[in-house]
Amino acid sequence: MRTRIEPYRIKTVEPLPCTTRAERESALIGAGWNLFRLPARLVTIDLLTDSGMVGMSARQWAALVQADESYAGAESFYRFEAAVRAVTGYPQVIPTHQGRAAERLLFEALVAPGDVVPGNTHFDTTRANIEWRGGRPEDLPIREALEPACEAPFKGDIDLRALERRLASPARVPLVVLTVTSNSAGGQPVSLFTLHETRRICDRYGVPLFLDAARFAENAWLIREREPGQGQRAPAEIAREMFDLADGCLMSAKKDGLVHIGGFLAMRDADLADRIRAAMVGGEGFPTYGGLAGRDLEALAVGLQEVLDPAYLADRIAQVRGLGDSLHDAGVPVVRPTGGHAVYLDARAFAPHLDPLHLPGQAIACALYLHAGVRSTEVGQLMRGRPAPDGVEKPVPLDLVRLAIPRRVYTCCHLDYVAEAVRDVFADPAALIPLEIVDQPALLRHFTARLRPHVVPAAHAVPA
Ligand code: F0G
Repeated sequence: MRTRIEPYRIKTVEPLPCTTRAERESALIGAGWNLFRLPARLVTIDLLTDSGMVGMSARQWAALVQADESYAGAESFYRFEAAVRAVTGYPQVIPTHQGRAAERLLFEALVAPGDVVPGNTHFDTTRANIEWRGGRPEDLPIREALEPACEAPFKGDIDLRALERRLASPARVPLVVLTVTSNSAGGQPVSLFTLHETRRICDRYGVPLFLDAARFAENAWLIREREPGQGQRAPAEIAREMFDLADGCLMSAKKDGLVHIGGFLAMRDADLADRIRAAMVGGEGFPTYGGLAGRDLEALAVGLQEVLDPAYLADRIAQVRGLGDSLHDAGVPVVRPTGGHAVYLDARAFAPHLDPLHLPGQAIACALYLHAGVRSTEVGQLMRGRPAPDGVEKPVPLDLVRLAIPRRVYTCCHLDYVAEAVRDVFADPAALIPLEIVDQPALLRHFTARLRPHVVPAAHAVPA
């Protein structure tokens, strides 16, 4: 059979919110043109993130009921610890309430003011947590990562020469972080080849290597599909080789843990783990629960097994690729090749008539919401730009709009609807409304900033 079918059937359903254009217009104005500020009940298809918005399995829901909610040493902790060890091979396992808590704890233990932390491309909370420690996050993507149309198979790779130059420099580097897949570079995978080479370079300079493993299973599947000689291997085996090449990982389990909340740190170094355990009690929680309930640990233990199921991964990656390829075939500029968890529109090519400082990515995201109730995220000037002292920002290298696909939540029909919405918005560039920032916080501004239309395009102007 050629028809692809989802490898599950649906037992619990939830109605999709439906709104009118007028309701969406007033909601967007009320939200200051920031989609993070919209109430979810006014969103029809929510592609803001693939994080935490997962369809849990019957096995996961069943596991919640057997949870042990003891404060210390709960059975749920030991089941969770065994599941993490089975996947990663790391003996030291520390639960946290989500990925950014794992980042904070790890960087508090390792990063001092003035340190440089190189990576392929850090996710925005990773970057912020390094900066909060007085460290400097440094992105060293390969050149192809900055060319949206380039079809290179491993655009998540780190630039190995640049990494070697950094480690040979006088700067203190407490660790290197490889994010698999590279979310900020289009959900693109890191190759096993590059993981092996990075390990070699880190060993030469005695620097620990950590994986930001939020999407480790998708990275493993893309290695299987794209790296020569890997096509017959089980995803669990490839994932294990990835973890074997690093000293530890930080994990947002809200992605490839297939849970609504959760995260962890896992590593080989027992002394480092003990320092983190001692430090976490005052803020995050006791080391056998992190910020989580026993039931969260149970769901995660099952999710970590399910995510490596080849049938699940094959469908997951094919679903995302189906959306990306259909847009590409319709002439819509998207980041190529389609990555693991999201389709990224290339906003500069999509709306070349808009000034990069008038937030073309955000303009497209707002237009998609107004047209069809589809919520996406800008990954460009709004997310990654910084206000300059003279008030004129520098344009960031890439302006993208991310259509992140939650796991086991939407069907192929839902994604057909999204594809139609994107094609419609692409066909009417004059309707895009350039934007400017009215107020913003110092860090992570895209979550809370308020915006307004920059100029009223001629088509919308009221005649004098
Ligand atoms: N690392 C990566 C690569 C991520 O994508 C995220 C979150 C985190 C760390 C932080 O984890 O949310 O559990 O605290 N990414 C989400 C996203 C928010 O929409 O891409 P968290």
